[in-house]
Amino acid sequence: MSRLSNLLKLLSARRRPARQAQGPAAQETTASLRIPRHLAVFMDGNGRWALQRGLPRTAGHRAGAENLQNLCRMCGQRGIQYLTVYAFSTENWSRPREEVEALMALFVEFFDRYSQQLARQGIRVRFSGDRKELPQDVRRIMSRAEEESRARQKLQLIIAINYGGRREIVQACRTLARAAADGRLDPETLDEAAITNALYLPDVPDPDLIIRPSGEQRLSNFLLWQAAYSELWFAHVLWPDFNEDHLDAALQEFTRRERRFGGLDRQGRPPEGDNRTTDQERGSHRL
Ligand code: FPP
Repeated sequence: MSRLSNLLKLLSARRRPARQAQGPAAQETTASLRIPRHLAVFMDGNGRWALQRGLPRTAGHRAGAENLQNLCRMCGQRGIQYLTVYAFSTENWSRPREEVEALMALFVEFFDRYSQQLARQGIRVRFSGDRKELPQDVRRIMSRAEEESRARQKLQLIIAINYGGRREIVQACRTLARAAADGRLDPETLDEAAITNALYLPDVPDPDLIIRPSGEQRLSNFLLWQAAYSELWFAHVLWPDFNEDHLDAALQEFTRRERRFGGLDRQGRPPEGDNRTTDQERGSHRL
């Protein structure tokens, strides 16, 4: 009898839902998860992924771009409302010219290939970063993607392109300094909300969870202001191989974490064991 039940267990473990479709088993596991309102992801490890296969680095970026489409689907299925991905940093210009050009071409190609799919999935596209240094065709496609998708409500995909957290803060400081110099801002009233309002996308809530694959464990100038209380999750998988098992592992870990924002738990003590507080229990969705 026990051999039969072991065999049945083995068979049901093998009959896992395909990655593309979210079957009942996947829904069962995700039902108990606390879902971050805003997830931010580094698309990191494309170069190593390509190298392992004897391919040029740009092949890794191409595979990474395709995986972004998968990630959007997975986030939509799980009810995540904002997804920010790090596509190109202010420091990435220092890469070889061919790689930078290939990346710029990939951004354009991504929207040519996937804009209908993004529309079907109700995805609004936005961008974060300093646009003025980007090639004209990239800027054009960015404006078009933003305009076409403005009314969509299922998920906001925010692509950080020519983005640097320090540059974002410097630009916000300039805006505020100008306002102070013009007499529109009293420096004594300057507070965190005023700085947030001068950032690229002030209406977007701070990321609740930041995922960095590829084994690196640092912020690399990503969302420096917004990440003050984000939960961080690292894994050794390279970005093109990141799939829904990894996402669910990150969400499970996020569900277990208790976010205290520098305070104490509801009993007034630091938490012990698995006594997590859900957003609902907290009484607010603003994490
Ligand atoms: C970091 O991995 C990745 C990048 C600098 C580029 C990410 C861009 C894409 C996935 C292209 C598609 C984006 C859009 C929005 C269509 P790495 O190359 O530094 O990897 P490595 O550390 O293994 O070298």
